[in-house]
Amino acid sequence: MKIGRREFLKGSLAMSAAAAMIAPRSVFSQTAESKVEILINEPIAKIHKDVYGHFVEHLGGVVYDGIWVGEKSKIPNYNGVRKALVDNLKKLNPGVIRYPGGCFADQYDWRDGIGAREKRPTRVNFWADTRYKTTKNYEDLPDGPQKYESNHFGTDEFVSFCKMVGADPYLAANLRSRDVRVFMEWLEYCNAPANLTTWSAERAKNGFKDPHKVSFWGVGNESWGCGGDFTPEEYATEFRKFTAWLPTYGVPLKLIGSGPNGGDVNWTRKFFEGLALKGGRQINKLYGWGLHYYSGSTGQQVANEYTENEWYDLLERSNRMESLVEDHWQVMGEFDRERRVKLAVDEWGAWHKQDADVPAGYLYAYAGTLRDALISGMHLDIFQRHADKVVMANPAQLINTIHSLFHAYEDKFILTPNYHVFEMYMPHMNATAVRTEFISQKVNFTRLDAQRKEIPANLWGLNGSASINGKTVTLTAVNPDAKNPRETEININGAKIVSAAARVLTSNDIHARNSFENPRGLEPKDEGVKIPVGGKLVYKFAPASVTRLTLNIA
Ligand code: AHR
Repeated sequence: MKIGRREFLKGSLAMSAAAAMIAPRSVFSQTAESKVEILINEPIAKIHKDVYGHFVEHLGGVVYDGIWVGEKSKIPNYNGVRKALVDNLKKLNPGVIRYPGGCFADQYDWRDGIGAREKRPTRVNFWADTRYKTTKNYEDLPDGPQKYESNHFGTDEFVSFCKMVGADPYLAANLRSRDVRVFMEWLEYCNAPANLTTWSAERAKNGFKDPHKVSFWGVGNESWGCGGDFTPEEYATEFRKFTAWLPTYGVPLKLIGSGPNGGDVNWTRKFFEGLALKGGRQINKLYGWGLHYYSGSTGQQVANEYTENEWYDLLERSNRMESLVEDHWQVMGEFDRERRVKLAVDEWGAWHKQDADVPAGYLYAYAGTLRDALISGMHLDIFQRHADKVVMANPAQLINTIHSLFHAYEDKFILTPNYHVFEMYMPHMNATAVRTEFISQKVNFTRLDAQRKEIPANLWGLNGSASINGKTVTLTAVNPDAKNPRETEININGAKIVSAAARVLTSNDIHARNSFENPRGLEPKDEGVKIPVGGKLVYKFAPASVTRLTLNIA
């Protein structure tokens, strides 16, 4: 039976209103308590592969020794790059990888990172002297490439790494401490045809005769903060200057502007106004508008210590990403009527304190928990619900810092729960996102306000996204309820489900994680799903879970 969307929503809203007012859980368990309606006839947009992008910065243990172990290392490597990382990342079919920062980018001179490694200069790494006082002070950090940047990993090593894993490079230009010329020379080094210019000859001398063909370029990073402390008006002027008459060398350039810090819509509005001062064509230069948002404690609280209320609190704060996407998109539309510029959420994730099992210099390195996995699922679902707006997203960062997919120290290497979510969500890549309605009872919890007084708060009880690829519908969903499953009726509007399968990441322990001692403590499991003959699909989403349902339709 086809259910009209309005009819479905009317029924569902009545149901959730009733649920909110009176119904105890047992009343709902007589029939399915939640409902998901997948509207396959309402496509949103193709889910861009780069929504499954990544981010690598010279920060703590990300590059040294997360990625780069060196060619002579005992740790298995491909030309100096950690083999286990390449082998596992490749499986995820990654989109773009952003590099070299982050804040590091605006203190970096790309010319330091090319040529014979033993001749490259050593610098103090931006992050070794961080103003984030939640980390150790500079003088307390052990010596090593995390503190004294050896530049052994630079443009050529990065592009080679991208090639090894099948990703596209996305380079961020230094707008704070180097001028336009240095940016243009980097472009020339990467993209100019073999041996036609001094910089392309230099590239060939370094072993890379063919151009790297880098399309994605970030014009600064967090230019409102570490990237220059600009006002949005000033940044608009800098952006125009940096992007005026860039040589393309036949490589289509996709420029990404340094967007807002979370909800700062003023930054977005004033920047676009600043571009428009020189006429509408300025906006055409932009491929993407960056957006950065971190939940978590910016390094103050350990990743795996939280109460049930804190579990919900962080999930709810991560959910803020949805309104950020919507709010900035709305402002962008005031200037970009044709909607040519899309959002590039090129830093997202939950930020905690580093684990004790890595050295002090491995800033914000931790293995993450089930809570982080749910945050990954929530974010990917949000981006997919807004596939018409978001063309790129990059969790911060790939390995050994913040919301990472991998955790490594010397010969130890593990996959974090975030990795598993990325693997589970892969069928969405390049599929068409479709409108999907989720109806469920909210979860209630308390959080502490600024005065540490408990205040009531809530979060949806089930949410996710769906996409279609041929006869396969992929539904991914997060159940944030720490204790209760969600029995859910699932309908595909206009199609019959003939078979289904589930892949579930969950645990009885909301603090579950992987560690060097127990590397496979938390992994997804496959489950069969029975479709009753002529009946409705009712699926019970496990408590504290991320689930992928593969639904094959007639
Ligand atoms: O990802 C860590 C840092 O967070 C990045 O360098 C910066 O852009 C952001 O503030």
